[in-house]
Amino acid sequence: MSEDRKNWGSKVGLVLAMAGNAVGLGNFWKYPYLLGKHGGGAFMVPYFAALLIIGIPLMMVEWNLGRYGGKYGHGTLGPMIYLQAREGISPKAAALMGALAGMMAFAVTILVNSYYNHVIGWTLGYAVLSITGGYMNAGDTGAFFASYIQNPGYIFIFWLLSVAFLAFAVMKGIQKGIEAWAKIMMPIIYLFGFILIIRTLTLGAPVKPDWNPIAGLNFIWTPRWSELSWTGALAAAGQIFFTLSLGMGIIANYASYLKPDDDIILSGITTVSLNEFAEVILGGTIAVPIAYTFLGTEGLKSGVGLSFIALPNIFKSMAGGQFFGALWFFILFFAGFTSAIAMYNYLVALLEEEMGIVRNKASFVVFALYFVVGLPVGLEPILTKTADLAYFTEIDNWVGTYLLVVLGLIEAIAAGWFMRGKAYDEMNKGSYWKVPSWFFKVFVQFLTPVSIIILLIFSTKDYINAGYFKLVPSFVESTPILIPWVQGARLVIIFIFIIGFIQAYSTIKRKYGQELATGK
Ligand code: PHE
Ligand code: NA
Repeated sequence: MSEDRKNWGSKVGLVLAMAGNAVGLGNFWKYPYLLGKHGGGAFMVPYFAALLIIGIPLMMVEWNLGRYGGKYGHGTLGPMIYLQAREGISPKAAALMGALAGMMAFAVTILVNSYYNHVIGWTLGYAVLSITGGYMNAGDTGAFFASYIQNPGYIFIFWLLSVAFLAFAVMKGIQKGIEAWAKIMMPIIYLFGFILIIRTLTLGAPVKPDWNPIAGLNFIWTPRWSELSWTGALAAAGQIFFTLSLGMGIIANYASYLKPDDDIILSGITTVSLNEFAEVILGGTIAVPIAYTFLGTEGLKSGVGLSFIALPNIFKSMAGGQFFGALWFFILFFAGFTSAIAMYNYLVALLEEEMGIVRNKASFVVFALYFVVGLPVGLEPILTKTADLAYFTEIDNWVGTYLLVVLGLIEAIAAGWFMRGKAYDEMNKGSYWKVPSWFFKVFVQFLTPVSIIILLIFSTKDYINAGYFKLVPSFVESTPILIPWVQGARLVIIFIFIIGFIQAYSTIKRKYGQELATGK
């Protein structure tokens, strides 16, 4: 056991850091466009089902996984999963399972952040452009966005500024870096969010004569059962993983800095609640009604560009638009920053704990790493003069969506099927509310893993139908110039997998080699 592991400074700080981890661009940028794309109210039904069946139980599982691993000095998934799995299966099999989990978390924290850091850069750029009035005269905000991402000046300056700021914050450590920034940025997000909601609901005739924010809210809150589709349901479940930061390794990493008897049930539930409030109430009430009312369902189809295309359209026509635009993009920036810092810290913890590199140096190494893996994301639109973001999309489809679900399954199985009763006892240690044992049996052991398996079967089918498995995926067939970018993304993913697997396996072997050799 490790005695000198760093800890969170206070309960409030911990909860804000965890909320900072979960509340991210997923809430304000991804959720609105998914909601728009998948029919509003038709999306909300599977969304809430997935929240209850997968989101909440898996959140408990990850906090438990992290706190347990932290007791042994681990902040990364490989050894964490090993420690839980070995309670039920042979050390060798547990090591394999741990290495696979470690590999996936490594891929997620490197690759998801490689494009996420860019989106954070865009939000910072757009915050500045809001203040300076940069897009106020743009005729077509869609074309403006395309020209933005093709402009090397904008892309490199704001991207590198953001990553440098992350490096600086992570260098300061858990309390003085991560916790301190979360305490500043998180309250601001909620505050700015409230101001924007009021502004959204009171936007009146001068901007658009038939403005009716209620129509936009109806679009979200009327369940249209007939429009429910498997694709929408899969997207909803995928969003639950993404938005709660599940299947990424970063909740477990933050939980590894808990003390062994710190409450995880109440804090875990609080994290979920703060995230869902930011997503469904703030994210839902600002972006979607605005886009829907002004531009109709067509306006909601701008995909990844929704926040950067539909909203600037409104900001440029309303009184005080520069100010409100800046509020919106600062919300996105702060939300993105306090999430990206978690992935950043995961990699720093890996270098610190598994390779003995001190935090300051590790922080530089990770900066360099993010520079290299993020380069193709930024270069694609600049070099191809397109705005399709094919490299980004390919990484997001596989690593940012599919892989999270697979990793979530491994975590649920390690806790529910291998560690079993011991995991249950462990969860309730130090908790104010006890998890009832039926909850553990019905959810953690049964409904959660089984529904993830069903989800995986259907998503795999969906991916096959959408042509994602083809050597030239369907979504780039018509734009040959993008094909090498997609195939390049695949090579990068495979390369990172190999390194991640070797790294995680050798860590487990180094620490627990004795057990692996003797089988006990
Ligand atoms: N939960 C985060 C979000 O909603 C997911 C995330 C965390 C993505 C860290 C990237 C980096 O945005
Ligand atoms: Na989120």
